[in-house]
Amino acid sequence: MPDGREVKTFTLTNCNGLKARVTEWGAILVSMEVPDLQGNLADLTLGFDDLAGWMKNPAYFGATVGRFGNRIAHGKFSLDGKNYSLATNNEPSGIPCHLHGGVRGFDQVLWCGQQTASGVEFSYFSPAGEEGYPGNLQIKVTYSLTDQNELIWQAEATTDAPTIINIVQHTYWNLSGDPSHSIENHEMQIFADAFLPTDAGMIPTGKLAGVTGTAMDFQNPRKIGEAINADELPLTIARGYDHCWVFPAREAMRQAARVTEASSGRVMEVFTNQPGVHFYTGNFLDGSAIGKYGIAYPFRSGFCLETENFPDAPNHSHFPSAVLRPGEIYQHKTIYQFSLL
Ligand code: GLA
Repeated sequence: MPDGREVKTFTLTNCNGLKARVTEWGAILVSMEVPDLQGNLADLTLGFDDLAGWMKNPAYFGATVGRFGNRIAHGKFSLDGKNYSLATNNEPSGIPCHLHGGVRGFDQVLWCGQQTASGVEFSYFSPAGEEGYPGNLQIKVTYSLTDQNELIWQAEATTDAPTIINIVQHTYWNLSGDPSHSIENHEMQIFADAFLPTDAGMIPTGKLAGVTGTAMDFQNPRKIGEAINADELPLTIARGYDHCWVFPAREAMRQAARVTEASSGRVMEVFTNQPGVHFYTGNFLDGSAIGKYGIAYPFRSGFCLETENFPDAPNHSHFPSAVLRPGEIYQHKTIYQFSLL
């Protein structure tokens, strides 16, 4: 790093030749190499070739995002009768809000990485007051790669004072392995019958809307591009998909999504213990970020499936609680499993 600190990167492999690289900077997934039907490996993630790129990373490629993933209206919330103001770093409609942990979120800090028997463990201590959050937070994020072709990402945290939390994995995927093209020809299935509509500032209105019969309906597999340009309010606000899909019930572990890409034959399934998944289609990508292999990532050249608690949950009492109290352990587990058609 410019200040002389050293950043370690780790490589995970499995018996089928899959290869994941993760780094202490931002507890980021740097790359994920997976074979296609012909057995050719390709990197399915967007990102950068060097640390200088990752140290800017305005689109949060590959990052572990926190303390609170996605948006909090005006950067304000109250907890146990006290009001808190978080750093504001985003304003889609001209009204500032808090996005992905603030000005210097978990994606922009140096974690401490350690190889373990099953993978890599990153730890980070977030002091009380950081970006406006109460409570000293101790976080552990682990990545492991199994011989069943599962990349397992887990986040755990404890606090010494009540706080709010929603740590999110923010990798952009392009299963073709060629992110110079849009992901609109991927087929997406999301195992949810409802989503959270947002206002123009991309903050949930608090309502839950059914997806059936709309452009938001991925209950059956459908090309991402099939309805992405439909003249429906959620899509016109976000210029594509950028919403939290809500699962019918909270389960210990459940399937969130299944994505397929016909030309490569690659399949990715996502499983999680969280109540929702944010499906985002890279609508803010505009070709200005030069990424790995010198590719300038065009509009919609990667999609994210960010398993999460609901955006702005601290300001909606009927959303699942995002509060973490002393003595409790925050636990988020997500599995990305790769296979072939
Ligand atoms: C998310 C948000 C998007 C956008 C990206 C980062 O997933 O939902 O609106 O802010 O992160 O560019």
